[in-house]
Amino acid sequence: MKVGILGGGQLGRMLLQAAANYDVTTYVLENDANCPAAHLCHHFTLGNIQDFDSVYNFGKQLDALTIEIEAVNVEALEKLEQEGVKVYPTPAAIRIIKNKILQKQFYQNNEIPTSEFHITQHQSDLLQHISFLPAVHKLGEGGYDGKGVQVINTEKEIESGFNAPAVLEKKVAIAKEIALIVGMNAEGKTIIYPPAEMIFDPVYNLLDYQLSPAKLEEKQLWKAQAIARKVMSGLNSPGLFAIELFIDKSGDVLVNETAPRVHNSGHHTIEANYSSQYDMLWRILLNYPLGNPDEILPSAIVNIIGAEGFTGDVVYEGLDEVLKMDNVFVHLYGKKQTKPGRKMGHVTIISSDYQDLTHKANKIKHTLKAVTL
Ligand SMILES: Nc1ncnc2c1ncn2[C@@H]1O[C@H](COP(=O)(O)OP(=O)(O)O)[C@@H](O)[C@H]1O
Ligand SMILES: [Mg+2]
Repeated sequence: MKVGILGGGQLGRMLLQAAANYDVTTYVLENDANCPAAHLCHHFTLGNIQDFDSVYNFGKQLDALTIEIEAVNVEALEKLEQEGVKVYPTPAAIRIIKNKILQKQFYQNNEIPTSEFHITQHQSDLLQHISFLPAVHKLGEGGYDGKGVQVINTEKEIESGFNAPAVLEKKVAIAKEIALIVGMNAEGKTIIYPPAEMIFDPVYNLLDYQLSPAKLEEKQLWKAQAIARKVMSGLNSPGLFAIELFIDKSGDVLVNETAPRVHNSGHHTIEANYSSQYDMLWRILLNYPLGNPDEILPSAIVNIIGAEGFTGDVVYEGLDEVLKMDNVFVHLYGKKQTKPGRKMGHVTIISSDYQDLTHKANKIKHTLKAVTL
């Protein structure tokens, strides 16, 4: 089978690493010939994943298509789907998810627990919602890695809101953020990975440190799984999805957002689970039996983020020391240039002992740095 991936970042790179186990010819479309996935696919095409003609011409030679980022040209995918190309996730699911307004309405229409919200078109619309604050303003389209998300606590902060279609969500008193990776095959059979629990870097709003399986009360796990199943039955799309959830201070479980693709919260599944999220997506795309999502051992992920004050050709300080640690797996994404906050790689730790995970995660955070000479 000829299978294409829209986007050539690190998620595409890890997806291609898993493809090497199977009988598949891989194609990547991305507008940077040196992107992380460019040298791991069989066929690389230089082009813009948001452009109709680029996506359509890329896709029409293929049997199946998937994405590693949701900011793609959905119209081209719809045409390809009509012409018989298998597009997983479906263009209809991508259309809902890629726009945060449509996504929130989807949760509302399907009675899936999520924070209350209002839709705004202009920054000045926020004046009508003063009594709704504190809230979180999210750009409908075009946001990525925390850009496009703005906390608005008081009337004074309204000027940091977006002057474009956006959703204003009630600010949740978050006790814990978790994510569930979910897969669905063409027959509608679903699998759910054990939840991951995360901590964010307050400066860059990037995932900073993660543990899996998350430590949850049984009831919270059930609620989270029930929400995940509802999201999947509502989207009704084969593919691999990540569902980000909040557990609030009163113990309620709310969906934050869904990603229609392999996800940074599932990196650990490469070493820590029987079938990784990447392996699972290939099984779905190639119509093979679903894999086993269970964990082999608990795990932690530490992201390697470009250090503050360094821009230019990357060097990895402390790499040798980390490579000497037991049950620690280093993944560098092959990006030549670092800049503050850029995702350069991640490290997975596996251990049956959560204290060992936390200890090693902290050690790695303080040892391994993406800097320049
Ligand atoms: N309604 C909310 N209440 C409180 N915090 C929120 C809310 N929505 C988002 N956040 C915080 O902002 C982060 C980024 O928001 P998210 O919608 O996940 O955007 P992104 O597309 O950048 O991942 C979340 O992980 C969470 O920490
Ligand atoms: Mg998010």
